[in-house]
Amino acid sequence: MVDTRSLPWPEGTDSAELTIITVEGPPLPRHEVRIRPRLPQWPRGDVLVLADPIPGQPAEGALATFSHGLAEHGLITAGPGGALLVALPSDSAAWTDPAFLELLAVAAVSRDIAPASRGVGLLGFGAIGAAHATAVRETLGLHLAAVCDRDPARAAVACASDPDVRVHDDAHALIDDPGVDVVVISTPPDSHAYWAMAALERGKHVVVEKPMALTTRECDALIEFARGRGLALSVYQNRRFDPDYTLIRDSVRAGRIGEVFHLETFVGGYAHPCNYWHSDAGVSGGALFDWGSHIIDQVLDLIDGDVESVSAVNHKRVWHDVTNADHSRMTLHFTAGREATFVYSDLAAALKPRWYVLGTRGAITGDWRRESVLSRNAIGTLHEDHFAPADAPPRVRLHSADGDVTDLAFKEAEPHPFHADLSLWLQYGFAPRVRGEQSRRVIAMLEAAEESARMGGLPVKPS
Ligand SMILES: NC(=O)c1ccc[n+]([C@@H]2O[C@H](COP(=O)([O-])OP(=O)(O)OC[C@H]3O[C@@H](n4cnc5c(N)ncnc54)[C@H](O)[C@@H]3O)[C@@H](O)[C@H]2O)c1
Repeated sequence: MVDTRSLPWPEGTDSAELTIITVEGPPLPRHEVRIRPRLPQWPRGDVLVLADPIPGQPAEGALATFSHGLAEHGLITAGPGGALLVALPSDSAAWTDPAFLELLAVAAVSRDIAPASRGVGLLGFGAIGAAHATAVRETLGLHLAAVCDRDPARAAVACASDPDVRVHDDAHALIDDPGVDVVVISTPPDSHAYWAMAALERGKHVVVEKPMALTTRECDALIEFARGRGLALSVYQNRRFDPDYTLIRDSVRAGRIGEVFHLETFVGGYAHPCNYWHSDAGVSGGALFDWGSHIIDQVLDLIDGDVESVSAVNHKRVWHDVTNADHSRMTLHFTAGREATFVYSDLAAALKPRWYVLGTRGAITGDWRRESVLSRNAIGTLHEDHFAPADAPPRVRLHSADGDVTDLAFKEAEPHPFHADLSLWLQYGFAPRVRGEQSRRVIAMLEAAEESARMGGLPVKPS
């Protein structure tokens, strides 16, 4: 069957539609299919979709394949006149899956576009710097071009295994480096807005670490400037891809607990806050900003609709040698009375669950694990290394209205999903899942929470 379909076409491509020749034959029953792209331009790895594929097409020469039993079959193959042969019925669920459609678009244009690679410059190579370096090195379409850190020992670590990486001792030199197309800003939060704007002004695409900035005014200036120059601007909201969160999101979107009307989420414990910038409210933005920039991003992604007001309380009771609050609570009041509360605490001798999500037909909980790694020390005795609760993904359970409780299994993680999206965005213009405007909305909630806390918990409308 010959069909024409609109795809998320890469910017600058003439065609708005693609001819698809749907290969006929008896489909397999619909199930989760692992599609293996064989394209040198595809940074995302395998694509998992619910599909009813048609086996029997040759895998030889195919642009993407799938396995059934022990045999590998072609799923997407180059057809005549630029068309694609796709071994799926025309009403398959895969045709509404964004990742599958992007794969088709890349397959359709890959013959005309040579694989290109964007140079990434890392500004700040502290705790998170190594994670970016690994992700950039392992993502097709990106390469590590340069690194800058005030601390020469840290910068030296970044280039130890790769002499082609340039090391700059001055941040201006990094953002002026002609081999750098994208600057990843991993300095402490109070300098994000300054360095992001400086890099955008030099015509660089920018990824900022979370939180995007400390005020919505700064976020707005960055977004407007990037938009005006046609530059990519994003925030590393990596916890959008955490296994517990994606499991909860997929379960909620599949309607397994009905409409979510009440959510509680918690991070913390009872311990002295770290003696580092994270605990300095002037640098970090406050206790809510550090973890809240992850958690509120997840909440806003999970619950649709406007937030009418934010209320919050900060407690300062025990740890007087640092300026962050010891315990903070913020509640987002969504339309129609739905609400989501986040508590961050360094005074919680008893932990609340990481997730407590109530829907109109069921609930989901996420309970912290108490995990540790056992090993022998140098003289052979047992050494037990305890995970901080937040370092082990919580155990996620689905609770039905009649009391059944089911453990939900994590799905296989995507390899470097944020960086793969960045690569596809820069190469083809596909919209990434994390967008700067979403992170700006996160900051609006955190800003409103701090204002509410200053006014003793009165509700504040986020800007
Ligand atoms: N997404 C995540 O999961 C995650 C995890 C940790 C940290 N972060 C974020 O990453 C950012 C950095 O956090 P970190 O824990 O890596 O901090 P860090 O203090 O360990 O590292 C920051 C580095 O930036 C360098 N630096 C600061 N200003 C500089 C300048 N002008 N020029 C050159 N180098 C400069 C410092 O020398 C330091 O090595 C923060 O915004 C934090 O919130 C995100």
